[in-house]
Amino acid sequence: MPTLKRRHHTSSANTAEQLLSWYDRHRRDLPWRAKPGQAADPYRVWVSEIMLQQTTVAAVAAYFEGFIRRWPDVTSLASASLDDVLAQWAGLGYYARARNLHRGARFVAQRFGGVMPERADELIAIPGIGPYTANAIAAIAFGERVPAIDTNAERVMARYLAFSRSLPGARAQLAALVGELVPHLRPGDFAQALMDLGSSICVPEDPECTVCPLSLRCEAHRQNLTEILPRKEKKTPRRVMRALAFVAIDNGGSVYLVRRPESGLFGGMMQPPLTPLQKNFPSARDALSEAPFRGEWKLKRGVVRHTLTHMELEIRTYVAQFSARPNGEGIWLLPREFRSTALPTAMRKMLRHALTDEV
Ligand code: ADE
Repeated sequence: MPTLKRRHHTSSANTAEQLLSWYDRHRRDLPWRAKPGQAADPYRVWVSEIMLQQTTVAAVAAYFEGFIRRWPDVTSLASASLDDVLAQWAGLGYYARARNLHRGARFVAQRFGGVMPERADELIAIPGIGPYTANAIAAIAFGERVPAIDTNAERVMARYLAFSRSLPGARAQLAALVGELVPHLRPGDFAQALMDLGSSICVPEDPECTVCPLSLRCEAHRQNLTEILPRKEKKTPRRVMRALAFVAIDNGGSVYLVRRPESGLFGGMMQPPLTPLQKNFPSARDALSEAPFRGEWKLKRGVVRHTLTHMELEIRTYVAQFSARPNGEGIWLLPREFRSTALPTAMRKMLRHALTDEV
């Protein structure tokens, strides 16, 4: 059996070599990446990986530098207020990421004196860092030989290995197989090469196998399976949840906003008063009893729809003008102040709808 073993070893070494040499010629120049041959800053890798979890590279690239300029290291982020972090995050969406990143920075500041641990099995103890992110930071910033496979890399490897089980369910099994292919040298570049390959050549539809550095060894290519791999689990349709919003406007055009509870959907963020999310809208008769103040509430025409990971939101909006601000626990803000406020995108959308002139 030694011959077989050696062949396997040689083949995986060549795969990594081929991929890395492709990466050296085609790598994307991204703001969180180190220049070729230099070590990446683990804090920048961490922040970028969290931002990239549900957001495209293009959107993150435009946003990342501003965040880093404001909080250039773990310690500065740890001493920032959560409100400032959420407000800075405005527009990226999925705010739980910002809360966790902030919590993680505090944890690293307290537990490790602001110095990031280097191994994946230590990084995973940090709040908000899961198995993928721990591996990505360990491989990219510290050169640990662990697989860091995002969805793009996952597609590349599922095809390369003709991995037939369904994703994301079989993700851990695929990662274990990929783990054996990760080279001792440049494991972080190996991961990022797979990501770049997946976003440019090994794309979901019509991959460009003719220019792929891995096509000669790609099992899906050989067996003509690129169209059907990776196999995906059936998605369960999103639930639709509905709520009424009450947009109170004072004489100067300020809008009344309240803070959501710290935990749960949009935790700790701002919004106009909103009824609890339910399967159906409250009846017209019940609706006004939910309003935060007595007033001339008028139902705005139309429904605002917003898609979240696990549900569709539908919001109907009541609007009322107040010549004197009623008392309440919330705050009054002018629309031009919304930009620097931690308002979820769904609420921005709804406010835009509520504040346009047509009725
Ligand atoms: N997606 C997640 N992490 C990435 C990285 N480091 N480079 C490119 N795309 C990514």
